Amino acid sequence: MTQVDTLEKTNTKSDTVTLIDNATGKQYTFPVLHGSTGPRVIDTRSLYSETGMFTYDPGYTSTGSCDSKITFIDGDKGILLHRGYRIEDLAENCDFLEVCYLLLHGNLPTKKEHEGFVFTIAHHTMVHEKLRTFYNGFRSDAHPMAIMCGVTGALSAFYHDSTDIRNPRQREIASHRLIAKMPTMAAMAYKYSVGEPFVYPCNDLKYAENFLRMVFAVPTQDFKIDPAVARAMDKIFILHADHEQNASTSTVRLAGSSHANPFACIAAGIASLWGPAHGGANEAVIRMLTEIGSVDRVGEFIRRAKDPNDPFRLMGFGHRVYKNYDPRAKVLQKSAHEVLDALGMQDDPLLKLAIELERIALEDDYFVERKLFPNVDFYSGIILKAIGFPMTMFTVLFAVARTVGWIAQWQEMIEDPMQKIGRPRQLYSGPAERPFLPMEQR
Ligand code: ACO
Repeated sequence: MTQVDTLEKTNTKSDTVTLIDNATGKQYTFPVLHGSTGPRVIDTRSLYSETGMFTYDPGYTSTGSCDSKITFIDGDKGILLHRGYRIEDLAENCDFLEVCYLLLHGNLPTKKEHEGFVFTIAHHTMVHEKLRTFYNGFRSDAHPMAIMCGVTGALSAFYHDSTDIRNPRQREIASHRLIAKMPTMAAMAYKYSVGEPFVYPCNDLKYAENFLRMVFAVPTQDFKIDPAVARAMDKIFILHADHEQNASTSTVRLAGSSHANPFACIAAGIASLWGPAHGGANEAVIRMLTEIGSVDRVGEFIRRAKDPNDPFRLMGFGHRVYKNYDPRAKVLQKSAHEVLDALGMQDDPLLKLAIELERIALEDDYFVERKLFPNVDFYSGIILKAIGFPMTMFTVLFAVARTVGWIAQWQEMIEDPMQKIGRPRQLYSGPAERPFLPMEQR
């Protein structure tokens, strides 16, 4: 029984809304569903059959597309929960693979379950040797996200034994493969772009450490992993692991609703994430801070951000859902200090600038009235830049982390007995039917 079925049974008569069609005077009543937390939801599934009308909601600002038990956001209070746990607690106390297990299975792993999961993921990190040859087909200046779209989709051509979406074991293996191979493929995209040899994964290392080694190690010298940097990388992965029904996750669900294989669906998610309105904002923050240049120019840029005639916006500020401090930004602010301290970069001018910009904006009526707070991208770029990643890799790192969220949401959709192919309707405003004109009469 799905959550929706259960909820329908517990609905009382007053849990309904009535729609009055003023054109015909007819009344229609729809059930109201109650989630475990969050706003009530009007069940409009019978709207078209009963009324002959569709809803119109571009950007889906008022539309719930699915029934999900994975992630909950209260944007007004600045709360993000995964399976009921606060993101701050997970970031402080868990490692990334614990959070992956939680997202996939619904509960935090026991010690034994964690060890088993770590072992499984570690033993799927290598990619098929033939996949390496795909990289050589790209130009050396190819954007790593372009490479990631291509090679992730190409996994479907290598792992035929985990593309039967009706087989639960195959779905599980595909999930493990995607979580395990994504860092390997991302590191290879980076190595290819800088002309260095690929570094094979190392099963003895933790997820974030292994990734850092694959990115930064070279065959000519030992690679030492700074524990503060590895912890910061792990936190960045945790903070980006899932975020409810955002654009890329909805893309994965929509692609998967046609029963496309999971590798193809995740490639679709990567394509959606690539857009600057979604996964690309942390890169934009660094560009903005670099353009501002010094603390004494902050006022000028704040003025520009407030000017309705100037298209400039404070990058890393504001969010469609959060109308309070993004809880992930709080964790990353602390983490930025820890990483820069560990790397001896306490006086990093970008961090100083970011802190000053945040201080001034949070005291300014314009930002206060519009509830514009720093979002997750405000500090993540500073950390990633300090670690040594080029800006083109920022969105790739987001994709590595979000893969578990995408695949958990995809699994949930496939296992939902109410699942149907996603097929939105439209408000048609083109020409009504008209007679065909032969070419000589046009
Ligand atoms: N700087 C200055 N003003 C802003 C900003 C900003 N960053 N964000 C919103 N505003 C203003 C708008 O101009 C608008 O003002 P008005 O009411 O006077 O017209 C008001 O605040 C509401 O803004 P909207 O654009 O309607 O809010 P929306 O929810 O559509 O946009 C968005 C959210 C796209 C994130 C926006 O805040 C923005 O562009 N921020 C900067 C880019 C950014 O940091 N994106 C990352 C988002 S997090 C993520 O995707 C992982």
